[in-house]
Amino acid sequence: MTDTTAPLGIIGLGTMGRNLALNLADHGVPLVAWERDADLAARARAELPEATVWAADAADLARRLPSPRAVLLMVTAGAAVDAVIDGLRPHLQAGDVIIDGGNTDAADTTRRQKDLAERGIHLIGLGVSGGEEGARHGPALMAGGDPAAWDRVAPTLQAVAARATDGTPCCDRLGGGAAGHFVKTVHNGIEYAVMQALAEAYDLMRHGLSMDLDAIGGTFARWNQGPAGGYLVEIAADVVRTRDADGAPLLDKVVDRAGQKGTGRWASLAALDLGVAAPSIAEAVFARAVSAARDERQALAGTPPGRLEIAADDLESAVRATTLLSFLQGFVLIAAADARDGWSVDPVAVARVWRAGCILRAPLLDRLAEAFGGLPPGAHPLAAPALRAELAETLPGLRRTAAAALLGGYAVPALTSALSWHDGMVRARVPADFLQGLRDRFGAHTFERIDAPGSHHATWSGA
Ligand code: 6PG
Repeated sequence: MTDTTAPLGIIGLGTMGRNLALNLADHGVPLVAWERDADLAARARAELPEATVWAADAADLARRLPSPRAVLLMVTAGAAVDAVIDGLRPHLQAGDVIIDGGNTDAADTTRRQKDLAERGIHLIGLGVSGGEEGARHGPALMAGGDPAAWDRVAPTLQAVAARATDGTPCCDRLGGGAAGHFVKTVHNGIEYAVMQALAEAYDLMRHGLSMDLDAIGGTFARWNQGPAGGYLVEIAADVVRTRDADGAPLLDKVVDRAGQKGTGRWASLAALDLGVAAPSIAEAVFARAVSAARDERQALAGTPPGRLEIAADDLESAVRATTLLSFLQGFVLIAAADARDGWSVDPVAVARVWRAGCILRAPLLDRLAEAFGGLPPGAHPLAAPALRAELAETLPGLRRTAAAALLGGYAVPALTSALSWHDGMVRARVPADFLQGLRDRFGAHTFERIDAPGSHHATWSGA
């Protein structure tokens, strides 16, 4: 950045905030910082450049920033964000910009944007992905909000973002309102689904194919070199190969109960609210719930499922197809929210921002950006010829893998839900005629006819 770069206020110097602050400082952004927790503040002070200005509280931070001010919040999503905004608001003025870099629920961002707009203060909802390492060395940044407010802060944020292989910063305003936080929520939903697909592949390799962990690690590493590759596949290889201090596989000492902070759940709830299907995202959330029911599982457990016959290429295809279909469910979800809230999200821009820095980064994102770019506005992503070709290549392997797993007694909800979503979406006629018949029979819910307009009711007497 230049010598004249305006200082940026930053509130919250926990792991993500501190690493992003260090990244901003590396890029010459002058910082005015405030962290309420004394230990976290001390750690950040020791690591950040001496030129960093330290504020005593929100009011002091606002006083020390030239207007129009820009303040980045890196505090835990939820009540803490409201508390910090409440503390800041009296000391801000029209034209100032708050950037919320937390994993905030888009509905909260919409509410806060409305409240702050009454005083002319802008709130940019900023999805930040890439974990600690991404924040330090280049995250993907997904912004939503007022375009003029974004233009003021964009150069600073673009400077610290990850860059795609073509040099473009993975940092963009993806639409108005809460578009950035919604896109981040869906990013995390897809992250849940892809991780679940990889977990199912691990289970099938380890228990169905009796592969040892080094062989499984080698398989993930090989997949990572090809079209199934991506950051999650890359770290899957590391996770299965890691040994504990005593030389035993570390995974074998890990309790099989996966936690969650809520973004996968929000993505699933959004799909339910919007009436669109994102079953692989929801199934991944449910799979974590099954994992969490550990005591019940242990009490109910019988003989574990045994050997399977699955060709190595089929398993790779199964993961590829499930990953692609999970992404497409996510893009359908974003399009539905956009149609309701009018953010004007361009799916090509979303795919481009996800190309580097974020947890979903993978060569697939380049293929998605190109495929979406060729579609007419509003077209379903499954209509893209290149994606259909990719599915034509991989679906047979997914079918054979899912069938073998189901027959063998393995739970593969990510794989099967992705397949069923695809198979439902490419059927011109699904058995909802039958559902309508049942609904009308027991509840006079009425039905539409293909040969006459309006709603109809029948007795469904069986004759
Ligand atoms: C990222 C991650 C990050 C985090 C989520 C999901 O994009 O950097 O998605 O936001 O990993 O909080 O965490 P859970 O699995 O705990 O819900």
